[in-house]
Amino acid sequence: MRSPRGQPFWLLLLLAAACAGILLVLYSSPVERFPGSQSRARDIQPHQAFFQSKARRSGNTKSRPCPHPLDLAILRHQRFRKLFDLSTPVLLWGGLFTPELWDNLRQQKGPYGWQGLSHQTIASTLSLLNSSENERLFAASAGPSPDCIRCAVVGNGGILNGSRQGLQIDAHDYVFRLNGAVIKGFEQDVGTKTSFYGFTVNTMKNSLISYQNLGFTSVPQGQQVGSRPEFKSRLPTPELISSGGDHHVMARSTIASTLSLLNSSENERLFAASGGPSPDCIRCAVVGNGGILNGSRQGLQIDAHDYVFRLNGAVIKGFEQDVGTKTSFYGFTVNTMKNSLISYQNLGFTSVPQGQDLRYIFIPSSIRDYLMLRSAILGVSVPEGPDKGDRPRTYFGPEASASKFKLLHPEFISYLTKRFLKSKLINTNFGDLYMPSTGALMLLTALHTCDQVSAYGFITKNYQKYSDHYFERVKKPLIFYANHDLPLEAVLWRDLHKAGILWLYQR
Ligand SMILES: *[C@@H]1O[C@H](CO)[C@@H](O)[C@H](O)[C@H]1NC(C)=O
Ligand SMILES: *[C@@H]1O[C@H](CO)[C@@H](O)[C@H](O)[C@H]1NC(C)=O
Ligand SMILES: *[C@@H]1O[C@H](CO)[C@@H](O)[C@H](O)[C@H]1NC(C)=O
Ligand SMILES: *[C@@H]1O[C@H](CO)[C@@H](O)[C@H](O)[C@H]1NC(C)=O
Repeated sequence: MRSPRGQPFWLLLLLAAACAGILLVLYSSPVERFPGSQSRARDIQPHQAFFQSKARRSGNTKSRPCPHPLDLAILRHQRFRKLFDLSTPVLLWGGLFTPELWDNLRQQKGPYGWQGLSHQTIASTLSLLNSSENERLFAASAGPSPDCIRCAVVGNGGILNGSRQGLQIDAHDYVFRLNGAVIKGFEQDVGTKTSFYGFTVNTMKNSLISYQNLGFTSVPQGQQVGSRPEFKSRLPTPELISSGGDHHVMARSTIASTLSLLNSSENERLFAASGGPSPDCIRCAVVGNGGILNGSRQGLQIDAHDYVFRLNGAVIKGFEQDVGTKTSFYGFTVNTMKNSLISYQNLGFTSVPQGQDLRYIFIPSSIRDYLMLRSAILGVSVPEGPDKGDRPRTYFGPEASASKFKLLHPEFISYLTKRFLKSKLINTNFGDLYMPSTGALMLLTALHTCDQVSAYGFITKNYQKYSDHYFERVKKPLIFYANHDLPLEAVLWRDLHKAGILWLYQR
């Protein structure tokens, strides 16, 4: 639930540098950094300049002078003259896919290269981008005057709220947008035209999740007023979205080597065979992170259960009276755990709960979870993927034996989803993103393993009275992410409570 960082923004700026003419740069958030920061100074080759050769290629004679062409400004500037190489290829397409390129890029991590990616994936993708159209950003003909291509790049910074720049923006030949580019309701401030939409699959999907309730319900798709039909093909279609998906495939060897480490009877059960509480009645508390727990004074009650399940940003310090201190199980995906550490760090979630008697429940939502789990048991750094280099002990502590880790069965998760939380979202654009929330998976896990279950901090009918999380300092409304169906979960908890199957804390 981490908010998307804007790597595409700077890429778009670079792309836009390929436009001769006015570059209207509209603020971006300060966290964004320049990728590969000016690593190489290159000599400019003005005669091969990217857009100059482009202008020549398409013999459009409609003349409109460019008042401030940026290539001239670059040439005049001592420092930037050395930095810019306007002839460097901006786009990758099939024609550039040579054995040398493969050899070079396979050494580099994404987004700079293809380390860990299969040749077949790259080749089959690039073979689909193998026409001269894929080589250029702008259409060879029927576009605006090649003498002066004017581009606006629209970031998503708050400075645009109330700016009334919409008409100005739309007056450019091409408008670049990115990530959570909400247009509806902000037409006067940000315009309506979109010629290019820039993203990584990650930032796009995070934007759809994080900004859905702020109006970003779909990626721009070419139907907007003023968008040029010839660019439709460049805007992502659903097929492109899915084929551009997760390149960290679930390798059989990764799964097998992970599971071979979870091969004792300890891993088969959530609870220890002996030495635990009375097996006659295992009482479990599952503690979600809902704002209803703020001021609840349920800490002692919670700790009185045999086992306490917590998840994601489970802040304890400072909230002992409300949420207790005992943690028997901590449930997460690597993604939700790391996002919680980032998003809630300044609210007190500075480390994942650790402790001798604590067990970790991995939800295997992607290959990241298998890789982290295997590395944790082996006591090594994560060897590949987005978490490459992470040292699991920084999350789970020094003591890391196989018995400390539990892994939810993927078939259990599908069973839960199909039987209990079959959301209508499954049949929408968000179908691939949808899964029960971490809290729901933990609560249903407890319902399938404990004899009695109490649920604290889960969504209730009057959720609007409470903050999103109990540990927030000022009240924040509950966020409904597009990848979960919290209203459906609320009904399920209410019904299970009414049926006497669980006890739901309500106020
Ligand atoms: C692109 O097309 C050319 C010519 O048709 C072909 O030789 C080349 O292998 C193709 N490239 C890719 C990556 O498929
Ligand atoms: C946006 O601008 C309006 C009117 O100027 C203001 O009321 C509102 O608080 C602003 N929103 C944000 C998020 O700054
Ligand atoms: C688990 O152990 C059994 C018996 O020692 C063995 O046959 C099996 O292959 C192991 N499973 C994995 C996934 O390594
Ligand atoms: C938490 O509860 C306290 C005291 O009841 C209240 O002052 C505060 O506003 C609440 N915090 C949030 C985020 O709702």
